[in-house]
Amino acid sequence: MTETPPIILANQVTRSFRRSNQSDLLVLDKVNLTINPGEVVCLLGKSGSGKSTLLRIVSGLLQPSSGQCYWYGKPVDGPVNGLSMVFQNFALLPWLNVLENVELGAERLKLNYHDKRKKALEAIDTVGLDGFESAYPKELSGGMSQRVGLARALVAEPDLLVMDEPFSALDILTSENLRNDLIDLWVDNKTKIKSILIVTHNMEEAAQMADRILIFGNNPGHIHSEIVVNIPHPREQKEQATQNLIDEIYQQISDSSTQSEKGLRFKFIPKHYRLPSVEISEITGILETLITPDFSTKANISELADAIHLEIDSLFSIIESLEILRLAYVLDSNIFITEIGKKFAGADIQDQKKIFTQQLLAHITLARHIRRVLDERKSQSASYARFHTELQDHLTPTAAAEVLKVVIEWGRYAEIFSYNANSGELSLEDHY
Ligand SMILES: Nc1ncnc2c1ncn2[C@@H]1O[C@H](COP(=O)(O)OP(=O)(O)OP(=O)(O)O)[C@@H](O)[C@H]1O
Ligand SMILES: [Mg+2]
Repeated sequence: MTETPPIILANQVTRSFRRSNQSDLLVLDKVNLTINPGEVVCLLGKSGSGKSTLLRIVSGLLQPSSGQCYWYGKPVDGPVNGLSMVFQNFALLPWLNVLENVELGAERLKLNYHDKRKKALEAIDTVGLDGFESAYPKELSGGMSQRVGLARALVAEPDLLVMDEPFSALDILTSENLRNDLIDLWVDNKTKIKSILIVTHNMEEAAQMADRILIFGNNPGHIHSEIVVNIPHPREQKEQATQNLIDEIYQQISDSSTQSEKGLRFKFIPKHYRLPSVEISEITGILETLITPDFSTKANISELADAIHLEIDSLFSIIESLEILRLAYVLDSNIFITEIGKKFAGADIQDQKKIFTQQLLAHITLARHIRRVLDERKSQSASYARFHTELQDHLTPTAAAEVLKVVIEWGRYAEIFSYNANSGELSLEDHY
């Protein structure tokens, strides 16, 4: 008897990228991944951990440096037929209307004109866009464009649907709608898709959709752990089982990100660390909540998220900022405020600013670096581009810009430097 092979098998997949004048950047380290027929697998990990790289490798769009992928047992050596991808920002061709954009997805089926049109119309219907066949991309909202992207993937009748953060560019309501619709399509068996592999950094999304959740660790990217989910659909977010699952995911993610600095409560962060996009008011808000009677003895993360009406993922980013600033830390799904964090929470605005400045310069390597460069220069200024370029040794241009945005906001608040967006200069004083 022969056993059906998995749809995807990635065996010891390793990938590094060349960098000029530096050692190679190891992005994936010996990753093993199996996708079996009939399951939704979520890959959950931090930004920059190598999730998209892994997707490109299993789809045959990128070669591994070592290791091998198999598609139904056959080695992958080029783009895989039978797999469709949906990206975060789905690129629709602006000069084609919805119907024509969707038809593009059917190319591989080699159908005649009429059959292709019929299939495309069905796919448009499936994603709830009937009536918009002749609309052009510029007339569509973000959510509708993502639906077109999904239809384009579905029309190819893939065995495996691969989605790379398909909802993260959408607002919360739109992404929830689209996610629910996708789950319905899946649960009701309305498509020929056998399995779905979806990348996200949203824990609730994973908890809502997945049969199996793979927690992806970073530096270099590896699979840290797996959570098998046995909660039937539809899953209500408020249900205890789903809440417990989110707690478990949270726990696993915390474990995965502290693995490299075992025994250390706080980690040293490199200059190019992906600073979480968090505003000062959010930091202040959480710390002040943590010293209220409700939370001062014990602050469970999901209870805290509930109490302050925050999505757990937003809370997660804020907590990460508190950890790197050493104002609070997490242990076993509970968050603990540090002595300096308590002092901050109880201080007036001026003293809060002083404490923040001290923590920023002591622990945020990039902030300290920028300050030092400015101090050393006679002009006491340096261009934004200088730092943007420097960060690109480790980050993509977009990621570098995101990191700079955060450090500039924090640095401005702390008054350790200022930034003039018109001239593109960072400086020690205001030159407005
Ligand atoms: N073609 C490339 N050349 C050089 N470095 C690359 C290339 N593609 C990716 N990288 C680097 O590999 C690392 C992982 O990138 P990848 O896009 O796979 O991460 P990710 O987990 O998908 O992140 P995100 O959540 O931000 O999408 C990053 O540090 C990135 O800068
Ligand atoms: Mg990615």
